[in-house]
Amino acid sequence: MSKKITAAITAVGGYVPPDKLTNFDLEKMVDTNDEWIRTRTGVEERRILKGEGKATSDMVVPAVQDLCKKRGIDPMEIDCLIVGTVTPDMVFPATANIACDKLGAKNAWGFDVSAACSGFLYTLTLGATLIESGRYKKVVVCGADKMSAIVDYTDRSTCILFGDGAGAVLLEPNEEGYGILDSILRSDGSGCQYLQMKAGGSKKPASIETVMAKEHFIYQEGQAVFKFAVKGMADVSAELLEKNHLTGDDIAWLVPHQANKRIIDATANRMGLSHDKVMLNIQRYGNTTSGTIPLCLWEWEKQLHKGDNLVLAAFGGGFTWGATLVKWAY
Ligand code: UT7
Repeated sequence: MSKKITAAITAVGGYVPPDKLTNFDLEKMVDTNDEWIRTRTGVEERRILKGEGKATSDMVVPAVQDLCKKRGIDPMEIDCLIVGTVTPDMVFPATANIACDKLGAKNAWGFDVSAACSGFLYTLTLGATLIESGRYKKVVVCGADKMSAIVDYTDRSTCILFGDGAGAVLLEPNEEGYGILDSILRSDGSGCQYLQMKAGGSKKPASIETVMAKEHFIYQEGQAVFKFAVKGMADVSAELLEKNHLTGDDIAWLVPHQANKRIIDATANRMGLSHDKVMLNIQRYGNTTSGTIPLCLWEWEKQLHKGDNLVLAAFGGGFTWGATLVKWAY
């Protein structure tokens, strides 16, 4: 009998733009201060993609090139590229299609997934099913967002939070039980009112009025989202452990979405995890939406060991949220 195929992560790539926007820079732009931002969110600086015409695909491409180089493969070998993003280059075509062209990934098909901050977990789960089906051998899933394109830099309640970046992982078949082992994903569209972009979609197409009303920027009711996020991310992570008969002691790393350090701390506490087992880079990159989780994997890659159990957890606009259990394959 043939063994069960799981989707193993076999390489990680990442890209953050070189330009930094620090809390001190923001002090000069809006009524805020470094101490408030650090204590309320954990962010110290973020990266901003600068340059005329530069878009999310321009971060996807170097992230995917990075993982191809590490794995020693050519982009022509990629079967499928899935990009989780809420800041696509254009409404259509998909950023994945544009990135494949720039990469020379001529044998790949691809598409984008809109799931806000849970974008990477949704794409990872989806990518894993393509591998598990036996039909595809090399699927790249990428979380990438150019949040600076939709941030209002006169709104102190949101502009302090977000940054730009992209991370990607390669999924390949594994018959030894490594890889994406389980996912619990959730969504609740009634949360739309608390976190959204009001215009630019079919409900309210772009017009002079929508631009004047600043409706093409992120709208967030921070406190409401915070309450849902703390409960959602902690509950689903605890549920994933219970479902898989694991405790915090079995987990090598929590890889949380980096929206707010206080939400991350609450999730770690709920899972019974000490803080040295929590990947945290919000201080350097802020909230890169779909980019946060793969950028953590990218930065911590050298510290990971074959067989490590990782819990990836996210909460974001939609609402969307979830947690994924990964057994590290290398
Ligand atoms: O990743 C997608 C999901 N998003 C999230 O998970 C974000 C969840 N929400 C949050 O992380 C937090 O709600 C924020 C960081 C956005 C805000 O923190 P908060 O502790 O909820 O602050 P608040 O909105 O309750 O505001 C507290 C005070 C207010 O002043 P008053 O009314 O008490 O006088 C705000 O006006 O802080 C003020 N404030 C600021 N002060 C200095 C709000 N923004 C700032 C600022 N600098 N940037």
